[in-house]
Amino acid sequence: MKALVVYSSKTGNTRMIAEAIYEILDTDKEIYPVEVAPEPDDYDFIAVGFWVNRGQPDYRAKTYMEKIKNKKVGIFGTLSAYPTSKHARLALASARKMLNGNEILAEFICQGKLDPAVLERMPKDKTHEMNSYRKKMFEEAQKHPNETDCLYAQAAFKDAVAELLSE
Ligand SMILES: Cc1cc2nc3c(=O)[nH]c(=O)nc-3n(C[C@H](O)[C@H](O)[C@H](O)COP(=O)(O)O)c2cc1C
Repeated sequence: MKALVVYSSKTGNTRMIAEAIYEILDTDKEIYPVEVAPEPDDYDFIAVGFWVNRGQPDYRAKTYMEKIKNKKVGIFGTLSAYPTSKHARLALASARKMLNGNEILAEFICQGKLDPAVLERMPKDKTHEMNSYRKKMFEEAQKHPNETDCLYAQAAFKDAVAELLSE
């Protein structure tokens, strides 16, 4: 069984989760940033990671996901919103749609710190208004991904791959 971890990461948050997942894959395995990732065809299981850009998996991850056909896959992502928010749910749903036709065995999403300069540049409209809810959300995001996020990501992927190995 050959496993591949591919991640798209601008500031390192998604890379951290990718490396945690890679670490517990108890099989023949490879890990690459999406920019230099090989074609997915030769692998039995592909874990693909994205960062959320305007509510969607980022463009590089999306382009890679669209190349994966008839595979067993896992998806993981990071975003500044809470992992239990509707925003996170929609981002995951969108990734699922991009991977249509593949069998999804594991999913994971967690918060990831946001560059303060990006926060400064956010549109000052109603959706992005800095109220107390959003302030707390960004403060929390600054603490992630942390060690617990990595453990949860490992838990999400470990059993999926163990099942594959026992087939
Ligand atoms: C241009 C840009 C757009 C973003 N859009 C969203 C978004 O729509 N929703 C969200 O929750 N986080 C958003 N974020 C935050 C990132 O998804 C988050 O910080 C992520 O952990 C970055 O991952 P990385 O370090 O792997 O690049 C955005 C960040 C940037 C730079």
